[in-house]
Amino acid sequence: MTRMVLLGPPGAGKGTQGQMLGQRLGIPQIATGDILRDAVARGTELGQKAKSYMDAGDLVPDEVMVEIIRERLQGNDAQDGYILDGFPRTVAQAEALDEMLEAIGQRLDQVVHIDVENEVLVERLSGRLICRDCAATYHVRFNPPSKDRVCDKCGGELYQREDDREDTVRSRLSVFTERTQPLVDYYQQQGIYRKVDGDRDPEAVLGEILRIIQAG
Ligand code: AP5
Repeated sequence: MTRMVLLGPPGAGKGTQGQMLGQRLGIPQIATGDILRDAVARGTELGQKAKSYMDAGDLVPDEVMVEIIRERLQGNDAQDGYILDGFPRTVAQAEALDEMLEAIGQRLDQVVHIDVENEVLVERLSGRLICRDCAATYHVRFNPPSKDRVCDKCGGELYQREDDREDTVRSRLSVFTERTQPLVDYYQQQGIYRKVDGDRDPEAVLGEILRIIQAG
């Protein structure tokens, strides 16, 4: 069992690795971006609140995100561990998470930072395709589906995210540097921070993350 955070800039492969790790370890991948996109698609109050921030590549306010996670971590499936993908993204979110866990006598086991250069990230995001039904991730060149625009896993339609336009991607990268990068220091001080080179074959990245988890 592990309670881990996948940290990294947009396009680093958090979703890709989170899905593979979740299947391998039998624990949920909790992706705040997926939760928000689902709320936007369903037109809920949360979705209406989040949409303009997401379209601009900005962060949704901390208090909204902290409440989403507080509720999600109470789910039955999250009692034996989880992979947080996309949360925390600010020091305030990390502090709120620590408080939440401390209150129930728990703590994070690992924070794995998937590191990739900005120019590679822009190329990855501009070619990314996502399944509307199961959120599986593909890439037109690096990981194409067998059939054009059709998900191999569930047959759903593949689409390109609104925020994957190059100018929005560049804003998201700046937001990562300004708001999320400080988490490196935060988790280094806790002794649970590990960095992996994400510019390799996804299976190689997965292998390294699994070794980190096994090493405890
Ligand atoms: P979110 O959905 O979390 O987006 P993100 O962090 O920008 O990350 P991405 O999903 O773009 O990338 P990824 O690292 O998962 O990469 P992926 O595996 O898909 O958040 C979206 C928005 O929601 C935010 O901008 C914000 O507005 C809001 N939000 C979410 N959480 C929030 C929070 N906590 N606080 C406030 N706001 C929040 O891979 C990318 C592509 O590369 C794919 O095509 C994939 O196939 C390919 N690929 C992956 N790995 C490899 C590899 N090793 N080699 C080659 N290609 C690869």
